[in-house]
Amino acid sequence: MISATTKIYGIVGRPLGHSLSPLLQNSLARATDTDMIYVAFHVSENIETAINGAFELGISGFNVTVPFKTDMLKLIEKIEKKAKKIGAVNTLVRGETGYIGYNTDITGLEMSLGNNGMSVKNKNVILLGAGGAAKSALCLAIENQAKTVTVINRNIKKAEKLKEEFSRIYTAIEVLSLDAVKKNIGLLKYDDYFVFQTTSVGMYPNVNDCIIENSKFYKKCDAGIDLIYTPFETVFIKNMQDQGRKCINGLDMLILQGVASFELWNGIKVNREIIENIKKMLLKDLREKMK
Ligand code: ATR
Repeated sequence: MISATTKIYGIVGRPLGHSLSPLLQNSLARATDTDMIYVAFHVSENIETAINGAFELGISGFNVTVPFKTDMLKLIEKIEKKAKKIGAVNTLVRGETGYIGYNTDITGLEMSLGNNGMSVKNKNVILLGAGGAAKSALCLAIENQAKTVTVINRNIKKAEKLKEEFSRIYTAIEVLSLDAVKKNIGLLKYDDYFVFQTTSVGMYPNVNDCIIENSKFYKKCDAGIDLIYTPFETVFIKNMQDQGRKCINGLDMLILQGVASFELWNGIKVNREIIENIKKMLLKDLREKMK
């Protein structure tokens, strides 16, 4: 029951029509008997005004999504170490005089790999894409001592910028253009890559698209994750499976980053059974939406 003491949380971003976060967070609240509600705040223009106003209104916390994950750094009072390193926040926790920024994307990604028996330790890693999601994957690869990281992107300048940003703490990064790799798979030196598919290629409604079609590419991979979860099985995942490679989708990551935010806000640990039940419900919701 909503009362005068119910805490209010939300997601800020644009567009939010398809966001699963409200369903996820309100289900977590119900399952753990937490007195909170969570809503979608579509911010069409001025995020600074929105955040300052939200603090004055007593809103307890936020998830932050596209396009505000980086801009938010300038608007908050404090940034947790990991979020600072990535240069992006996806969670705000209310402090005394302002919001404190965290990044649970990496936590979600790391847990999702761990739960599926995957690890990048001592592995040669490929990042397909060089945007915000690729940055989280790169941080995870560095933190978990990947042997090498090869960033493959359509726009090579963007990949070079990513390499440059992390060059102080990690030197085993190589950058390749997507076109060059498509023309010559031999540019890839190893045969056991762990691959992060971080681009939006293959996402609903363009479900027949795939970032790279050549089967030789998939033979060079050992396992991987496609961060897309609509559809659950992208052409990329199917191509990996056709070569006998294990490849998971991004749904666990989405759920686990949300759980990590919920735990930060409420200071509680959500048990596995609740997470599994919520996953079933989200799967049902997604299946309905994709009909
Ligand atoms: P996110 O924060 O989800 O990573 P983003 O920052 O917009 O989103 O990054 C999207 C990534 O998908 C980029 O690497 C983009 O490549 P470019 O940097 O060359 O734009 C990649 N991407 C999107 N559409 C693509 C397409 N049709 N072909 C190849 N790469 C694509």
